[in-house]
Amino acid sequence: MKPKVLLTHPLLPEAMDYLASEVELELATREMILPRSELLERIGDKQGLLCFLTDTIDREVMDRAPELKVIANCAVGVNNIDLKEAWNRGLLVTNTPEVLTEATADLTLALILATTRRLVAADRFCREGRFRGWQIDLFLGQELSGRTLGIIGFGRIGRAVARRALAFNLKVIYHDPQPLQPALEKELQVEYRELEELLRQADIVSIHASLRPQSYHLISRDRLELMKRTAVLINVARGPIVEEKALAEALASGRLWAAGLDVYENEPEITPELMGLDNVVLLPHIGSATYETRKKMCFMAVKNLLQGLRGEPPDNLIEPF
Ligand code: DGY
Repeated sequence: MKPKVLLTHPLLPEAMDYLASEVELELATREMILPRSELLERIGDKQGLLCFLTDTIDREVMDRAPELKVIANCAVGVNNIDLKEAWNRGLLVTNTPEVLTEATADLTLALILATTRRLVAADRFCREGRFRGWQIDLFLGQELSGRTLGIIGFGRIGRAVARRALAFNLKVIYHDPQPLQPALEKELQVEYRELEELLRQADIVSIHASLRPQSYHLISRDRLELMKRTAVLINVARGPIVEEKALAEALASGRLWAAGLDVYENEPEITPELMGLDNVVLLPHIGSATYETRKKMCFMAVKNLLQGLRGEPPDNLIEPF
């Protein structure tokens, strides 16, 4: 008998067809964000769950799923899953690392360029019919060459951003709970800094940490105060790492020069004060959204799920830490 699997949101069609051929598949909903009541209602008799960062998989969900064996998240971040609860119950939890590194790093650079060169405001200016001809001081931005990029969280994505930054002649400093060996720092041309020091020195601060209790509001109101008035903050990781209200105030008052955000504290809600500001670029969590990457993520999540259901160790198992 084929195992029963709940899919909380459609995958790209090729991956969904493949999954449907291997398991007894129930697609929970076509709505963008699965209503929790539906998740709780449908998980009951399933052995597998293929879910997304928009689904909160906590004790209540697991209580409703006595037969559940595998939770395959179609994302690299797993902050939407209560890992300890899952591990206590012997559930396998998997994610989709590596395949999204380059796409997310590309988007980071896009945000760095969009904010430092004010691209979105300039585009709006043209569309509003306000371009009357070249002017010496029209949309003056900040040059990247020679400036300092501070990367918070120096895992795969942080390092991919660093590689790109060197091509723009940026100096790269980083902060991570586990600093690199000096030889590797030398090879990657990066230097370690304590967090506060990084915030004081960087012209652009880019966040690539995972969301854990220790990183909640890591960029707090007080820490925003440490940044240069001319600095730019980029967040493509997880919204709650930044105290969003404090960021909106800093941008509105001119305390901070600009920000580029792909993620939000209470996603999909965005702090209303950010909406009216010209010095922030707001994206709808599209860091990994290239066709190639999303396809790889879908197939990877499916493979992890099937491996777990067959009793094989999934390629991307999140081990208890
Ligand atoms: C992830 O995978 O965690 C990203 O936020 C979405 O691709």
